[in-house]
Formats: sequence, C-alpha cells, structure tokens
Amino acid sequence: MSESRPQARNILVTSALPYANGSLHLGHILEYIQTDIWARFQRARGHHCLYMCADDAHGTAIMLKAEQLGLTAEQHIANMQAEHERDFSDFLIGVDNYHSTHSEENRELSAMIYQRLRDNGHIASRTITQAFDPEKELFLADRYIKGTCPRCKTPDQYGDNCEACGATYSPTELIDPVSAISGATPVEKESEHFFFTLPEFTDFLKQWTRSGTLQSEVANKLSEWLDEGLQEWDISRDAPYFGFEIPDAPGKYFYVWLDAPIGYMASLKNYCDAKGLDWLDYWKKDSDAEVYHFIGKDIVNFHALFWPAMLDSADFRTPTKVCVHGFLTVNGKKMSKSRGTFINARNYLDHLHPEYLRYYFAAKLTGGVDDLDLNLEDFIAKVNSDLVGKVVNIASRTAKFVSKSGGILAEQLADEPLWNQFVEAAPRIADFYESREYARAMREIMALADAANAWIADKAPWSLAKEEGKEDEVLAICSQGVNMFRALITWLAPVLPETAKKAEAFLGAELDWHSATTPLAGHTINKFKPLMQRIEQKQVDAILEAAKESLAQLQAETAGEQKTGPLADDPIADEIQFDDFAKVDLRIALIANAEHVEGAGKLLKLTLDLGGETRQVFAGIKSAYKPEDLVGKHTVMVANLAPRKMRFGVSEGMVLAAGPGGKDLWILEPHAGAQPGMRVM
Ligand code: MSP
Ligand code: ZN
Repeated sequence: MSESRPQARNILVTSALPYANGSLHLGHILEYIQTDIWARFQRARGHHCLYMCADDAHGTAIMLKAEQLGLTAEQHIANMQAEHERDFSDFLIGVDNYHSTHSEENRELSAMIYQRLRDNGHIASRTITQAFDPEKELFLADRYIKGTCPRCKTPDQYGDNCEACGATYSPTELIDPVSAISGATPVEKESEHFFFTLPEFTDFLKQWTRSGTLQSEVANKLSEWLDEGLQEWDISRDAPYFGFEIPDAPGKYFYVWLDAPIGYMASLKNYCDAKGLDWLDYWKKDSDAEVYHFIGKDIVNFHALFWPAMLDSADFRTPTKVCVHGFLTVNGKKMSKSRGTFINARNYLDHLHPEYLRYYFAAKLTGGVDDLDLNLEDFIAKVNSDLVGKVVNIASRTAKFVSKSGGILAEQLADEPLWNQFVEAAPRIADFYESREYARAMREIMALADAANAWIADKAPWSLAKEEGKEDEVLAICSQGVNMFRALITWLAPVLPETAKKAEAFLGAELDWHSATTPLAGHTINKFKPLMQRIEQKQVDAILEAAKESLAQLQAETAGEQKTGPLADDPIADEIQFDDFAKVDLRIALIANAEHVEGAGKLLKLTLDLGGETRQVFAGIKSAYKPEDLVGKHTVMVANLAPRKMRFGVSEGMVLAAGPGGKDLWILEPHAGAQPGMRVM
C-alpha cells in the first residue's frame, strides 16, 4: 500500500530577499510560508532540498534610514537581519541558511559576474543627466523628489505620479520640485552610468520565458514587454551609496538589484563552504539540480528578465522555475495603515501560534498569481473548524479507547473501503503540493477528515464501549481512527511542523510520507494530549491593536519625532523670548571642591569657583558621581538663581545636568579653553 519512492532530486529553493529596511509584515510571511511548505514537502518526500534566503541590505533607502536612526549602515542591517531571522524562526520557516547581500561571498560573486558580463560585451557606459541634491550631494531617484502636481496643482506629490489626480509625469515637470531628503531644490547633473545590454537577450528571453519556467499568465505578461522592446538596464549608482563599489570604477556602485539575486548564490556559497559542499553543483551550466525562486508579482521583471539574461551571459545555469504569487490583502483590501490592517510578523506572533496562519495561507494558496485575502473572521472559523474540529478531533475521540484497551493498535482495519479513499488520495495530494496548489491539497485532506469523522460518528465507539463483548470492535474502529489521523497529519506536516512533531510523540512513530497509508498495526501508542487550542476572537483583536500601535510608532519615527525617548517623555516647553532667556545668567565654574554631606542621601556639596568669587551649591548628583571625580573639572552653573535654604546649608545656584536621574545623570562640561566666570550664551 505504500507509494513507491521516487528518485531523489537535488533542489534549491529561495524566497525573495527582504529589504533590511523595515520589519517583515504578513505579506512577506505569505511568501516565506509558501516557500517553506514546498521545501518541507520535498524533504518529506525524500528529496534533498536546500532553502536559502538572506537580507537584501543595499541601496539608498537603507543608507538614509541608518542615517536617520543615527547608526552606521552596517549596524542598521545587522539589527534588521537579527529581527528578520527571529521572525523566520518563530513562523517555523526552516531556511537552511539566512545570509546577507552585504557579505564577502556576494561581493566576490557580484564582481565576478559583472566582469563576465563586461568581458562578453554586455556592459555599455554613457553619461546621463539626473536630478541632484546639491545640499546632500546625492543623485535623487524619482521617489526622492517632491513638488506640486503640474496638472491638478496638489502640493507635496512624489516623484513621477500624482496621488491626487493620478497624472504621470517626469520629475522635471513638477512645479517647485524639492529634494524629499533635504528640502533643497534639485539641480541637473551629469554622470557616467553603466548599463546591462538587455535588448541583446530578447531572443533568448522569448524562448526562456516560454520554456515551462513560468506560469502561463506570467509568461503572457512578459511577452507583452518583450514585444514592446526591452531597454538597457542601468546597473550603476554614484557615491554616496550603500553597496559594492564596481571594480575599476571608483565612486560607482552596483545598483542594489544587480547584486540582490546574486545574493541567492552567495547565501548558498556561504552554506556550502561551511558544509564542505560545492555551490557550483547547483549553479554550473550542466547542473542536474533544480532551482526554484519564489517571488511576489511585483518583482517579476528582475527575476524573469534581468536575472536569467545575466546568468546566461555569465555562463551559469538559469532557474528551473520562477514561482510567482499574488499579494496579500486583509479583509478584502490592500493592507492599509489607515485601516489598521498593516500587520507586522511580530504583531501576529505575540498573540497567536504560527501554525494557524500557515494553515490558513495553505488553505488559500494556489499555483497562480491571484491576490490572497486574509479575512480575519474566516481565519478564525476555518482554522477552528478544520484543524481543531476535524483533524485533531479524529485523534482525540478515538485515542482514549485505544489507551483503555492497552494502547496497542489493532492488527486489522475496520473499514477497508474508507481506508482505500485515503490510499487513492495520497498521490493527488502530493501532486497538488508539487504544483503549489496547496488549497486543493488542503481540500483533499479535509474531505478525508470529514469522511473519517462521519464514519467514527456512525460507528459511535463510545456507545459500543458500554456494551459487553464489543472490546475488539471498539479497538478496531479506534485503531483505524488513529491511523487515519496519522495519514492526515503526515500530509499536513509541511504546513504544521510542530503539531506533526507532537503527533509523532503521541503515535510513538516517525511520520513518513511513503508509509502514511500503510496502517500501523500491533503498534503501541502513547497517551493523547491535546494538540491544538481554538483561536479566540480576543487574540485576533489583540493583533489588530498591536498593529495599530506599531504603526503609530513607525509614523512617529518617520515624522522625526520618537514615540519613546526624551522628547516623548518630556516635550519641549512653551516658546520664550530672547529676553526671557537672557535673564538666566549661566557661567562657567571650576569645581574647586566636592564632598559628601552628612545625612544627605542624594546630595554632594560643591564649591564652585567663578574666577574670583565662589558659590556653594548642593547638587543631587551623588548617585552618579564620586566627589574625587569632579574636583578640578569645569561645568556650567546658573549663577543668579535666588539662594535657597536647605537642611544642610544654603545653596547658591545650581549646576546643569541632563538625564533621568540615578546613575543616569551627566553634568555639563565645556570644551577646553572656557574659563571660570565666562558667561554662557
Ligand atoms: N529586496 C527585494 C527582493 C530581492 S530578491 C533578489 C524585495 N524585497 S521586499 O521586502 O520588498 O519584498 C520581499 C518579497 O515579499 C517580494 O517577493 C514581495 O513580492 C513580497 N511581498 C511584499 N509585500 C507583499 C504582500 N503584501 N503580499 C505578498 N507578498 C508581498 O522586493
Ligand atoms: Zn495631480
């Protein structure tokens, strides 16, 4: 009854590399779940399947974001990568390697591929004119230019299209254009750029895109572009840019999209080098491995035009398939910040187990490019009904009777015809997984679960168990129940890897795709423990609440104000006039002496030398400073503050310090050269 084992394949799969620029949201997660299910399915079938991913760490946006955060680009991308890897792992996305495009492997491979393209005459260079921010000294991509729409006159429109009236234009047509980065008026500036001569690959691409590498709807779209004629592809950017400098072209950098797909290779090379394998086994021209890229529909041109053309020129094999998926919508609409449906990976993970979403996505994913909707009401209903109500239910209502009669499964099936439905479904389920028709695979599995539950309800072992002499019958029914559960959970394992593990512990046997429909007979199982809880509405509400909060946080950050931190905790005071400020007489003071004060837990007594006069000040800085660390230092004091009588004496002013208090307190110190008594303005 077991399926024959196919010849083991060598498979490399990738997901699109997320930008190291922000948090992952459920749209990203849709793709990573789709890929992970496929990779796990292949492994479950006995194939050798590597799943590679990485952060896409280059580009102007990442450079500017790091600057905005006050970090180096390297620090920023390291933080993002750590966050992304945690999201992957918590969503049970089992990548074999998670690397970065900002890696040595990628630097070398990018240089090598570029040199091959150039040696083959596929790199052209010419001077182009581009908008330039004279203040930031930076060339401006369209999205970094803002201005008034030339058609409807709406101000503050980005780049090349108007959000108000939908007009498209070139940024030079904007009225009063400004750099979105500095606010400066852009100027036109010339610069030499390098181009990949894509049009020379038209014939190759016409053939490649029609050779079974793409879904037909994707191939059709591409043939429109191919018929319209391809353009040369600008692959260089001027400094300052966060990326790889182009060999032999100082000050010129690879455009992020040149080295991004090479990042797939770099991640594999990094993995293979560590494992003593050869990455070229996957990428050499005559490789017998299969390569699958999973991507969203927005980046098809990069993966199905530029990338295969580059690979072909550089003497590498091209992908076996580029698998394109549609976009995630939430409650029927584009994920939206204003509707609060822009849900980050972490917003979800903080409140729900990843397998619920893995199952829901699987239940809706097809091999096509249609958008996929996460309807939150349907999500709760479907997961509760299918996973808890159908699949897990089969085990929970039968296992206890097996346990009662000794925990050993019967030798014989109770119902051969029903079991045969399972046997017949197995290859169909595998085919649906293989062709990424997960929704159809899930429907097959749930139909079998329905049949199993109906049969169990009909046999009602719980009633039979009360009758004398029906023990064997009860055991036979329930053993078949446990075996049906085992088959279903084996087929669901690529989607529900953790539940599958728990099921293995319960069954006392490893799940194996090829023997899923060979019943376990005379086999001892363990006590059944609940495998999964129902989703509750309040958990989903909490996700939406968290999504709103992280959004507010993000908006505050991009608006330049922080939601947390000194300014948020203590907003800037009401405006004052200069005269008000001038009333405060700030002076440089030398700390001539500092000592503890008997009986005062927080105070140090400072003797401040103003260059002729001295003042005695009691300062609440004892938790942060030792007296001996202060003596001889300069600081700034308010010299004309009315004296204040304290328990320990009179305080004649105050020293300036910042910080929330306790150990976190820092007194001001002027640059060297400032003399005691000098006024601070
Ligand atoms: N860095 C590039 C990919 C480089 S691959 C060599 C990029 N990054 S991304 O972070 O913007 O997107 C990563 C993947 O997530 C892409 O495949 C993209 O299509 C997918 N998605 C981003 N938003 C999505 C949805 N709302 N829905 C489904 N997939 C989405 O593009
Ligand atoms: Zn307009």
